[in-house]
Formats: sequence, C-alpha cells, structure tokens
Amino acid sequence: MNSPSRPGGRYQRIVENIHQLPALPSIVSKLISVVNSPDTSAEDAAGLIEKDPALTTKVLRLANSAFYGMPRSISSVSSAVVILGFNTLKSLVLGASVVNLFPEKGGASAFDRVRFWKHSIVCGMAARDIAQSIMGVTFMDPQSAFCAGIMHDIGKLIFELFTAQDYAKVCAYSREHAVPVSDAENALLGTTHAQIGTILADKWALPIELEQTIVYHHNPDAAQKAESVVAVVHLADVISHNLDCGLWDKEAPPAQWALAQEMLDIDDARLGAIAGSIGREIGTYNEFFSIINS
Ligand SMILES: [Fe+2]
Ligand SMILES: [Fe+2]
Repeated sequence: MNSPSRPGGRYQRIVENIHQLPALPSIVSKLISVVNSPDTSAEDAAGLIEKDPALTTKVLRLANSAFYGMPRSISSVSSAVVILGFNTLKSLVLGASVVNLFPEKGGASAFDRVRFWKHSIVCGMAARDIAQSIMGVTFMDPQSAFCAGIMHDIGKLIFELFTAQDYAKVCAYSREHAVPVSDAENALLGTTHAQIGTILADKWALPIELEQTIVYHHNPDAAQKAESVVAVVHLADVISHNLDCGLWDKEAPPAQWALAQEMLDIDDARLGAIAGSIGREIGTYNEFFSIINS
C-alpha cells in the first residue's frame, strides 16, 4: 500500500486511532477461522454460536427470514448453520460486529449510516447474484461474494468515526463537484476509504478475499489475489450506485474498470438483468440490516 503523503499528520492520527479500535470479539475471530477451515462441521460452528445468546438469536432470525428464501421454522442452531452456510455466517457476524463498533452517534451528521448499510447490503446482493450467474466461468460461493460486498466500504465508517467533520467536507465536495467520493477523499484528505479500510482488515486479520476487496474494489486490475471476487464486487458496487443506493441521492458513481465484464465473461444484458432483479427486491436489504443492527 502506498503511504499517502498528504496531509501526513492527519493520516498518521487516523492510523493510530484504528489501532486503538477493539479487536474483533473473540467469538467472531474463532468463528471466522472455524468456518474457513475445511475440516469444520456444522456442529462445530453451532457449538461456538450457542455460547453467545445474542448471536444465537441473530442466526435463528436470519435462517427464518425471507432474506434467505421462504420463511421457515428453524429452531436449532445446527439446522440454521446448515441452511445458511458458513459464508453467510461470516457476513452475519462481521456485519453485526461492524454495526456494534461503529454505532450511530446521534445528532445531525452528513453521513447517513442507514444509507451506508443500504449501499453495502445492496452491493452484497448484486455481488451474490453476479457470482451465481458466472458459476461456469469461475467458481465462487455467492455467499462469499455477498460478504465481500457488505464489507467493501468499511473504510468510510473509519473516516466518519475519527474525522467526522473532515468527512462531512469530503461528502459536501463530492456532491458539489459531482465526483466520486474517493476522488474527494484524495483531494481533501490525501487518502481513500480503500486504503484506510485495509488497516482494519489487517488488524482484524480478515480473510484474504475480504482484504483484497476492501483495498482494490475501485481498481480491481491491481488486486493480487482473489481477483474474481474483487471484480465481482467492483461491478456490484456500480450496480448499487446505479440503483441510487449511494450515500445520498444521485451520488456520483465510481468509474467502472473497462475490462471487468470481459474478465468475468458477463455481458451487458446479463448484468442489466441482475440489476433489474435486484431493483425489484431492493426492500429486502432491510431485513438483513435489521438483524445485524439488533
Ligand atoms: Fe468504495
Ligand atoms: Fe461502495
């Protein structure tokens, strides 16, 4: 990662502050390493989840929600784990941890947290559907793409937490000049949410596909690993913007990498169909949000 040189003092302060953020709750770190291990059974993961009553409730709510298909009546955690799958569990525990760590501050703020989550979850839904649609080209668990989608912009929350006033100016600049937020971040803060987010990804030792997505979702051609997931989230991010799920109405969308569709072998018609179906089910984002936010 290139260390932004401008303005050095402010960047340094953000970096130091990030290191003061709490570690991921130990149950979350354990669960991430457990679900990433090929030897893990649903019972192993369920045993871990059951130690945490709040997490147990969230897992059962999600398994019984319409977000994952027809509402069902699942009462055991191990059945819920089987239905949801390990990558969905990862999205749930990481999403809930991030919501907890970056709570709403109250009062007037230029940064609308509900819109932030709507953008991230809709991006996750689009990433999931793109991954599903290109199964023949590159194998990727659609739920892993969903997880990368909901985490991609986490750096924006760090800016908002540690430099709220500066970040309000960034948002105002982006609106006024109709430029993507990362251009405004570079112009005013000398760094971007992608670069800042990676420091948290390192601190939390997030899996490589999440770290790469956080750093390279605006320039997927630079990703060194998990290139397909990064490119999928890159396109999903553009879809989320095109559906007007930005931080504010008509937020300037990020530039699309010209070769992303070619790399994933997905044409305009297929991408348009995915955007259309996400547009029709857009309200369901709220179901996932209310569970991680509970
Ligand atoms: Fe971004
Ligand atoms: Fe985004």
